[in-house]
Amino acid sequence: MTNPNPNPNPLTALQVMQDAPVIPVIVLSDVAQAVPLARALLAGGIRMLEVTLRTPQALACIEAIARAVPEAVVGAGTVRCRADAQAAANAGARFAVSPGYTSAVGQACRDVDLALLPGVATGGEIMTACEDGFTELKFFPALQAGGLAMLKAWSGPFFDVQFCPTGGISLQNAPEFLALPNVVCVGGSWLVPADAAASGDWHRVTRLATEVQALRHSL
Ligand code: 3PG
Repeated sequence: MTNPNPNPNPLTALQVMQDAPVIPVIVLSDVAQAVPLARALLAGGIRMLEVTLRTPQALACIEAIARAVPEAVVGAGTVRCRADAQAAANAGARFAVSPGYTSAVGQACRDVDLALLPGVATGGEIMTACEDGFTELKFFPALQAGGLAMLKAWSGPFFDVQFCPTGGISLQNAPEFLALPNVVCVGGSWLVPADAAASGDWHRVTRLATEVQALRHSL
């Protein structure tokens, strides 16, 4: 299948991972919050924004950010099937993140020019993703699936694979993950606390994003 709306400037997964030490994992249920949230994260130096497809409003939020905040790069998280990938691309997402990996989701993202960070938690999933040409992967759920020890073990057989651990990562434990040679960035929901979004406390979100920049300097 060919993409009817090819993106003239497709990103790579590595570009998505290298932009900042943390990719914020965002859950939004109110479209009115999308643009101020994106601006608040941008003000703190975070451009790559993963809006998860977990609410009925998620696609409208992606569309609003893509239209109103062109300096940000909005992506879709929780992409699980071809329909998710197509809907995300149509809404203006530039990258996709999946919680696990199937060849079908990998091909669906390729078909619509979405850079994909495939989620993996086992050696078999890593091997399938690599067979399909994906070597920059999300390790999810990172803490629950083995954390630092798992990443260290994988660095032997999967010496050519780079990871974005997500799930249980915080400002406190992020430095240990970022110090590993096979970790490019981490993902986390802590940059956008639900109560801050609900109350429109965008200064708090900017503060949290700014804190993350220090992680870059501690690498
Ligand atoms: C995800 O969906 O990637 C995780 O829910 C994010 O995990 P966290 O909430 O522990 O950061």
